[in-house]
Amino acid sequence: MIITIGNTKGGVGKTTLAINIAAARAMSGSDVWLVDGDRQGSAQIAIGIRSESNQHKGIACSQYVDGSVLRTQVLQQKSKYQDIVIDAGGRDSTALRAALIISDVL
Ligand SMILES: Nc1ncnc2c1ncn2[C@@H]1O[C@H](COP(=O)(O)OP(=O)(O)OP(=O)(O)O)[C@@H](O)[C@H]1O
Ligand SMILES: [Mg+2]
Repeated sequence: MIITIGNTKGGVGKTTLAINIAAARAMSGSDVWLVDGDRQGSAQIAIGIRSESNQHKGIACSQYVDGSVLRTQVLQQKSKYQDIVIDAGGRDSTALRAALIISDVL
């Protein structure tokens, strides 16, 4: 499943939610890929720090801030993962639009 945590408003908890959903899915045994679509890179930094302290071990994380690259990379690699969580930046961006297009509709 591809899930996007997105909002054009900044600072509302998107990255916190994305990291926790990814961690919860990983702890349930799912192969998870966290995609950071924000040029701030907070999700990627958080996963890096937590991996070093052996938390959230096993969560793959990549950053793609360009919408076209994000869309093509996620579509190319999605069969490797059971769950893909995309954290989008707090503004309208090509990455947010691409993420919404490729996400599953719940
Ligand atoms: N459920 C919550 N309750 C209280 N504080 C929260 C909650 N979720 C996130 N926060 C805090 O709110 C702040 C912003 O959170 P976060 O970075 O996740 O937001 P964001 O939407 O990703 O921001 P940005 O738009 O800059 O990417 C952080 O200090 C975080 O610890
Ligand atoms: Mg964020």
